[in-house]
Amino acid sequence: MIKSESFDAAAKDYDDIFTNSQIGRLQRARVWQYLNEQGFKRGSRVLEINGGTGEDGLFFLRNGFELYFTDLSPKMVEVALGKFEQSSHKALLGSTTLNAKNIGQLSEQGPFDLVFSNFGGLNCLNEKDLEDMMSGLNSCLKPGGRFIAVVMSSCCPNESAYFLLKGSMKKAVRRRAKSIADVEGQKFPVWYYSPKAFAKIFASSFKLMHTRAVGLFIPSSPWEGFFKNKASLLKIANGVENRIGNSATAAYFADHFLIDLKRIS
Ligand SMILES: C[S@@+](CC[C@H](N)C(=O)[O-])C[C@H]1O[C@@H](n2cnc3c(N)ncnc32)[C@H](O)[C@@H]1O
Repeated sequence: MIKSESFDAAAKDYDDIFTNSQIGRLQRARVWQYLNEQGFKRGSRVLEINGGTGEDGLFFLRNGFELYFTDLSPKMVEVALGKFEQSSHKALLGSTTLNAKNIGQLSEQGPFDLVFSNFGGLNCLNEKDLEDMMSGLNSCLKPGGRFIAVVMSSCCPNESAYFLLKGSMKKAVRRRAKSIADVEGQKFPVWYYSPKAFAKIFASSFKLMHTRAVGLFIPSSPWEGFFKNKASLLKIANGVENRIGNSATAAYFADHFLIDLKRIS
């Protein structure tokens, strides 16, 4: 089972390692682009789960959302709150440490227009946890409310290619099944999903609106070092992804897929 300490240790360096990396910025920009396209009204209420160091939280505050911020790790929440305090946007409804599978505990803080999860926090939940999460999601969201999640996919050829070139067959096929992640020496299980498998878990209460690739031509994080002095190549990759990464098929083969589900019951 995952413990908050697994990510507490990562909180301090997470922004240096991922948020501010070239690849992290490009992948996040794809997610923000999608959110911008959805036409959420100013004042929309968002509940963020596994919000990490608050980078998306800041995005929501800057864009006029009212934000309730959560993460499993107290250290992550601490870093995020530090950022929110420094920002001039103050529409923070509240914050707490929360295991996403217990999201129902926040139903009294709702209802929300959007529940949002970025960059793989939900890969720390197995299928049963996600099923348990669904009734809580329902109680937090308005009817017609949206659940938008960015999840690590079960098939990522660009990551497999990286590990094959490095001679690690084991890592090249790691997404095919449950795997053990290692964050700052803390080991915990992760589960990878296809867009179809993920949508199926929520199908009784949520209608699938869209899926989109996040990290199909934009590479996965292990490639960061290779692209260190190749910003123009990454720019091209980003351009290609923005052109042809928005199809449902593309979402199957990317580092992450963005999935947008609408509450129907
Ligand atoms: C890869 S980071 C992503 C952070 C952030 N969403 C972002 O976009 O940068 C994964 C986050 O998920 C959180 N997390 C892991 N398991 C969780 C769980 N069961 N419930 C809530 N948060 C969890 C971790 O503490 C960590 O902050």
